[in-house]
Amino acid sequence: MNPALNDVTLDFATLDEIREAAVASLAPEVTDFLEGGAGDETTLRRNRAAFAKWALRPRVMNGLVAPSTTTTFMGLELGLPVLTAPFGVDNLFDAEGHLAVARANERAGTLSIVPEAGSFSFEAVRAASPAAAKIAQFHPLASDDNFLRILSRVEAADYEAICITCDCPTAGWRQRNLRNRYVPPLSAASGNYPPTPDSEINDVFGQLFELDAPVWSWEKLGRLLSGTSLPWMAKGILTPEDGVAAVKAGASALLVSNHGGRQLDGVISSLEALPAIRAAVGPSVEIALDSGVRTGSDIVKALALGADVVVLGRLAAYGLAAGGEAGVARVLELLKQELHSVLTLLGRGSIADLDESAVMPIEAP
Ligand SMILES: Cc1cc2nc3c(=O)[nH]c(=O)nc-3n(C[C@H](O)[C@H](O)[C@H](O)COP(=O)(O)O)c2cc1C
Repeated sequence: MNPALNDVTLDFATLDEIREAAVASLAPEVTDFLEGGAGDETTLRRNRAAFAKWALRPRVMNGLVAPSTTTTFMGLELGLPVLTAPFGVDNLFDAEGHLAVARANERAGTLSIVPEAGSFSFEAVRAASPAAAKIAQFHPLASDDNFLRILSRVEAADYEAICITCDCPTAGWRQRNLRNRYVPPLSAASGNYPPTPDSEINDVFGQLFELDAPVWSWEKLGRLLSGTSLPWMAKGILTPEDGVAAVKAGASALLVSNHGGRQLDGVISSLEALPAIRAAVGPSVEIALDSGVRTGSDIVKALALGADVVVLGRLAAYGLAAGGEAGVARVLELLKQELHSVLTLLGRGSIADLDESAVMPIEAP
């Protein structure tokens, strides 16, 4: 029997049903904001198409059952090779936003990357689940002072790792939002900034995204982070050159990502970018991958091609919109069950056994 049917936490039997429930619960312009990408969305489509260009290579009759999915990433324990992404404006999807995401991660033994541009403060999300809210994400967009202030807050709140988003010096060209005349409310992104009347919010965000701030570079990022003892990951890496530069600047991990196709349209998918980045930085640098991960077999393909963990953006947001904490928990539970099924059928006893021998390139069907 399908183990998913044993579970009564929610009626959702598949991840597709969760997406459908999310879409049904959101205003059309919010769905477009969540699902859309930049430009003509070629990269958004490419993120999914890339997974179809790899087939799995099963080994049978090997005596294996009950595969192990536990691992560590940036020194943190994980029950599954999965983190949830730092997606901002989270209370558009559920009133509890990342508080609910963190609690759901705690239930699954996975971790949240908690966003700076979220609806709740780093401190509030950490308090909601100290076990899961361990990685804080912020942007090198504003002044050095603002960056260092956020860093001190994250350290004081006992976060254990940092994620720096490097691919967002300006917002992507999101045509669906333009067509809808839709701008997400800035109040939904200001959890880390003092409560601000709508009339003044542009000033607050003007400071946050200071356009005349000194230009950022790997050298400057490395210098500002050299004072922290927390490990940091560079998010938004798509080339071997940037992977090597981030490591040289002090990153202990990379998040290979094109921001879910939301930033620069026309770039390759993260899955296509992954093997060359892995080859360039070698086996000792930890690599996470996001952008287009939707199934358990996607996770297996990403790990086989060189990632250590995957990061879920829209899948987690769908869970949140469909059922708050329980919805995200259900996403993680279904993924875990599917991952177990795929690993068993693939004949791999552990995620640590996944390497290039588990996949082969094919013509997309
Ligand atoms: C609604 C939404 C808001 C996001 N906000 C941020 C953000 O504030 N900072 C950031 O680094 N990435 C942000 N992202 C990108 C995600 O962290 C992640 O890279 C992306 O969603 C992964 O692709 P996927 O959605 O296909 O899983 C956002 C994504 C979505 C869908």
